[in-house]
Amino acid sequence: MQRSAAISLTCLISTAVLIKSSPPEVGFTLANSVQIMALSPGDPNSYSRPDLAVVTHTNLKLSVDFDAKILRGWATLYVKKCGITDELILDHKGLNISSILNDADDTALQYVLGEAVEYGEKLSIKLPQSESSNNTYKIRIHYETSPNASALQWLQPEQTAGGDYPFLFSQCQAIHARSMVPCQDTPSVKSTYSAEIKAPANLTVLMSALREEVIESDGATNTYKFNQPVPIPIYLLAIAVGKLESRQVGPRTHVWAEAEFIEQSAYEFAETETMLKTAEDICGPYVWGIYDLLILPPSFPFGGMENPCLTFVTPTVLAGDRSLAGVVAHEISHSWTGNLVTNANFEHFWLNEGFTMFVERKIDGRMFGDKFRDFSAIAGLNSLKEAIATIGENNQLTNLVPSLIGVNPDDAFSVVPYEKGHTFLYYIEHLLGGPQVFEPFLKSYLDKFKYKSIVTSTWKEYLYEYFHDKVEVLNTIDWETWLYKPGMPPAIPAYDNALIETCKHLTKQWLQWDENTSCPFNKSDITNLTSNQRIEFLDELLLADEILSQKKLETLNEKYDFDTIKNCEIRFRWLRLCLKGRWRAKVTPALTFVTELGRMKYVRPIFRDVYAWEEVRQQAIDTFLANKDKMMYVSAYTVAKDLHLDING
Ligand code: BES
Ligand code: ZN
Repeated sequence: MQRSAAISLTCLISTAVLIKSSPPEVGFTLANSVQIMALSPGDPNSYSRPDLAVVTHTNLKLSVDFDAKILRGWATLYVKKCGITDELILDHKGLNISSILNDADDTALQYVLGEAVEYGEKLSIKLPQSESSNNTYKIRIHYETSPNASALQWLQPEQTAGGDYPFLFSQCQAIHARSMVPCQDTPSVKSTYSAEIKAPANLTVLMSALREEVIESDGATNTYKFNQPVPIPIYLLAIAVGKLESRQVGPRTHVWAEAEFIEQSAYEFAETETMLKTAEDICGPYVWGIYDLLILPPSFPFGGMENPCLTFVTPTVLAGDRSLAGVVAHEISHSWTGNLVTNANFEHFWLNEGFTMFVERKIDGRMFGDKFRDFSAIAGLNSLKEAIATIGENNQLTNLVPSLIGVNPDDAFSVVPYEKGHTFLYYIEHLLGGPQVFEPFLKSYLDKFKYKSIVTSTWKEYLYEYFHDKVEVLNTIDWETWLYKPGMPPAIPAYDNALIETCKHLTKQWLQWDENTSCPFNKSDITNLTSNQRIEFLDELLLADEILSQKKLETLNEKYDFDTIKNCEIRFRWLRLCLKGRWRAKVTPALTFVTELGRMKYVRPIFRDVYAWEEVRQQAIDTFLANKDKMMYVSAYTVAKDLHLDING
């Protein structure tokens, strides 16, 4: 069974990454075992060896070249040697390295650069010969990124709302940082960073760090300075460059967006400070100083990304009624669960996302009542059911702790760590006596492991230590099944059904209605439902075994006007329901919807649904091929796999 590992950037402790963290029951093939030898012992998705020499700080000096779609300059890595080694081993992916120097005397260092394969390669650098004080080194790597760097999306002006200026943004999680900077691309390593970024003077540069001064240079370019003094895993490195405006919406919060979105964004996210204060009440002090929000262009592949000091958000949450601002509560929660206490590798991703869902829904509970917390949990459980049916109930990727040996984290991504993780924590909270008992533990856990990277057993051991007087209760948990078995969780908490009942009742009525009888439905059926209840109503219809015929769907639309609703969560489910009912005329609107935005939560299921419908399958493939170059790498990569296409071959 796993041993605990609390991993920080100090060499002494980081040797703990040597402990293999995959569940024991998962076997691997010879091909995998050959690959493992080259990999980090503590992280199946990194080649780096922080147990031998670890990066403690990175200083970036880069210029942004929109014409060439390249970041160019150098990274100075502050390194501490801790094992017996004469090498620093890093990850890289497609970087064009021109020289590597000892920063102390500018002498060239030897290095071996592996050829980039799917998720990157190893970069081994000979450490300087001369004995340094404290076994510390400063290594300067001159390089440029590839125009196809998987962490970066370069947008043409016409792909932005304003239409006049280009835009650049990054998405490093899970393992794309290596395509942006040579680094130890494993979350077991935490380090600080600073940066000077030169960009066209009419654009603004933002990073996941504190903003420092802007140095104006020749009039054509400006240099922006940043500092992130809190040690972070490198997947939290982030940059955005565009024509941006800002509005202050709270004492520590500015909203950044293109001018076209700024007013709406300031309105939509006005509750941010209340959410932050609520999160502090649950989790402890906020250590990151500022909490800014950046609204990205529609091709951003996620709902949100918890880049420290600067959460990235999709414009698809701009619903006009704050009903989708829960994404911000989620990203705020990551300021503790994920960014302070971090999964040591992505097999333990549930420690980031399951805990974050748990804190997010606690914020919901505090702000909107416990009934809403449970409503959201039931909705999450529905999405878990769908995901497990899609992935396969025997697929080990539905384990709470899967093996990622030979698996790209992009291929493993699903709601499983989110919702199975949330269910597990809710279940344990209830078992131990409820929030009054469990919340003090949560705070204590976050405080104990802040600034560290941990695996599941570290958390479990602390749970047993903290609740040493409740060991018998803890022993009733079926740990093996919860953590290492595929499929639905072994126990489902008894949630409060109050808010979901109305949705379920309406769903039942629609399913039971005989179309040959007169129509009993009216607009007034849904006037008292919240936006989230309408979403849930559509979800229940989607999940039902019964299929609504095109005729019933037409009536549904006539009564409730779903065709005209802009809210993306509603539009997404409505279009999927039409595809489920084989309403041919809705195929083109559905595909148009997912070419206008890049959020994978919407794009993947719609493409999969159309693909699964044989008569229109080709339309999905053609639409994807015509649009893939405008998609971010990770969206194009995953949709290509969903459509069984080999776009790289
Ligand atoms: N950290 C994730 C996004 C992510 C996960 C990016 C894995 C790359 C790899 C972020 O916090 C997230 O979970 N976003 C959700 C928000 C939702 C749960 C409210 C999303 O994008 O849908
Ligand atoms: Zn998250």
